[in-house]
Amino acid sequence: MEINKAVFPVAGLGTRTLPATKVLAKEMLTLVDRPIIQHAVEEALSAGIRELIFVTAETKRIIRDHFQANERLERELEQRGKQELLELVKNIPPSGTVCRYVIQHEPLGLGHAVLCARPLLDDEPFAVILPDDLIYHDERTCLQQMVDVYREKNASVVAVENVAREQVSRYGIIETHNGVDGINRMKSIVEKPAPDKAPSTLAVVGRYIFTPRIMPLLETTPRGAGNEIQLTDAIAALLGQEDVYLCEFRGRRYDCGSILGLMKANVEYALRHEAVGAEFRSYLDDLIKD
Ligand code: UTP
Repeated sequence: MEINKAVFPVAGLGTRTLPATKVLAKEMLTLVDRPIIQHAVEEALSAGIRELIFVTAETKRIIRDHFQANERLERELEQRGKQELLELVKNIPPSGTVCRYVIQHEPLGLGHAVLCARPLLDDEPFAVILPDDLIYHDERTCLQQMVDVYREKNASVVAVENVAREQVSRYGIIETHNGVDGINRMKSIVEKPAPDKAPSTLAVVGRYIFTPRIMPLLETTPRGAGNEIQLTDAIAALLGQEDVYLCEFRGRRYDCGSILGLMKANVEYALRHEAVGAEFRSYLDDLIKD
């Protein structure tokens, strides 16, 4: 079955980006000319997904506002003859896209956030995108690459990336079975291991495709590290029932949930930006010379 739905867990507190995120949802911080969440949505659309499910907190209404029509703005743009801008704002999200919202009342972890989307998933396979993990690509997006693997294997797929050994304690780390066809399978997964205990340096990053089997497992996953329901624990349980494949994607990842990652992403995306890239580059050149 095709992947038609994507879940965006966006109910986290965003403590690493305080005070910017005291009031503003971290997913609404801008990356050059649009909020981070819009980049994540564009990636889902690139993979043919048309149903977007946002798992949000009561305090994050602004995300919903961003994906709803702004009639006053549209009227003004129309009256002023700003047709291009009008098209731009009307196209968020493009027509034919459905946005749904579910509230996670308490921040009980990523696993719990994904579980909150269950009533909207109709027992279908689905993608999960963590907007914090922004992945740049110049050809096929990370999710497109993952859908390729999903279509081939008809099984759950997680995006993985090699990280420095001293960073493994920030990620779910996996051990692999090497596939003869070049697509590797997950053998085991461990959440945030100490560098000397990690089975590898291959880390799971914020993109997943799941078969519906993950849901009953999330339902029975007890609270783990940090008293949260860990998605990693449910993936480990899924491995006992079916194969999970890896997508060692091509692309460059930025951790936009941290100030430094957000700054790096902003600089690099600005340098690549069609309208401002060239001028920004010459500005940076001058700045560095001084
Ligand atoms: P993070 O680990 O980045 O946590 O969550 P956080 O609370 O958002 O941010 P910091 O670490 O305090 O700065 C990873 C993803 O899971 C979502 C977050 O919104 C983010 O997309 N999440 C996390 C939830 O939706 N609910 C939760 O209870 C926890």
